[in-house]
Amino acid sequence: MDLTSQALAYCRPGFEKDLAAEMLQICAKAGLACLEHTQANCGYVLLDIDAPLDEASTQLTYQRLVFARQLIWVRQVLADLPDRDRLSPLIAAIEKIPGRFGRIWAETADTNEAKTLSSFLKRFIPHVERTLVERRRLSDKPDTANLHLFFTDSSHVWIGTSEPQSSSPWPMGIARLRMPHDAPSRSTLKLAEAFFTLLTEDERKNSLRAGLRAVDLGAAPGGWTWQFVSRGILVTAIDNGPMGEKVKATGLVEHVRADGFVWKPAKPVEWMVCDMVEQPSRVAQLVADWVAAGRCRRSIFNLKLPMKKRHDEIERARALIHKRLSISGRNWELRFKHLYHDREEITGYLAAIK
Ligand SMILES: C[S@@+](CC[C@H](N)C(=O)[O-])C[C@H]1O[C@@H](n2cnc3c(N)ncnc32)[C@H](O)[C@@H]1O
Repeated sequence: MDLTSQALAYCRPGFEKDLAAEMLQICAKAGLACLEHTQANCGYVLLDIDAPLDEASTQLTYQRLVFARQLIWVRQVLADLPDRDRLSPLIAAIEKIPGRFGRIWAETADTNEAKTLSSFLKRFIPHVERTLVERRRLSDKPDTANLHLFFTDSSHVWIGTSEPQSSSPWPMGIARLRMPHDAPSRSTLKLAEAFFTLLTEDERKNSLRAGLRAVDLGAAPGGWTWQFVSRGILVTAIDNGPMGEKVKATGLVEHVRADGFVWKPAKPVEWMVCDMVEQPSRVAQLVADWVAAGRCRRSIFNLKLPMKKRHDEIERARALIHKRLSISGRNWELRFKHLYHDREEITGYLAAIK
């Protein structure tokens, strides 16, 4: 058995240090020695961990990492695939990995340089798939591991696996969502991605039902509101700015011109979402107050991060929320993710649980 393991996590280029810092912090807390390799703007972090895969992967999970778009466990590395036959060595390396695979993803970092490989990968990967089908290495059972072929150039590939329950469901960890026709702003995609990334399937089923109520703080022009009304959820939209006509025309929106930090609902609601551009600690305090006071059951919110010390700012927000919720006596859970549609910000999910 291999006594060490190697994690490869993808991120938005420019966020490697933040991702490495949280990977190191999780390993340190778990008492796992590790060594990180990363370069500025390369779009990924590689971490050698002095523990076998099953131990390391219970500590370091996709869900715990804010800045990871994807997390895979490296099983084989090929550094010099020959131009004349890349397929044979690649298949030989995959054959050394036990088990079957659900999905095969050929991936690169999200950099302009790496993306030049995409036409080569489109031509090459069908050959890999065909060979693995012939060798009966693929399975359509839902819990089967994903196989990732992460290319840094056409001759260098990291071959890794991820478990569906602890990984992003999108190739390269990039949520490619179609812009809905009637939504008034592109930020609608951020909330759509947050629903898929931060909530479980059961949570989506229970909380995104027609007839529930939501409050949208900083709602104009209504991209986030649109995500709710398109599901038949009634929205109180708080903003001094104007809401889009198509959102208003649904008849499911009450627009209130008020300060989102002051306005409160008369009755508890299922959702409060907040996209106001403000100090992260002020937003964290507001969200914690709403959930602690039972004004809403769940919240999704945006924290705009400073260019430097992003990790510290997230820790400050976590601590604030922890303090406020602890004295409320409620059980709660908090998740953060740097979404594909987030730039200098992250998205949080806070919910009271029974
Ligand atoms: C980034 S935009 C929101 C975009 C919106 N989520 C969408 O999808 O269309 C931020 C909004 O917050 C509003 N805002 C900022 N501070 C606010 C406050 N204190 N009270 C209410 N609205 C506020 C601004 O007027 C602006 O419309």
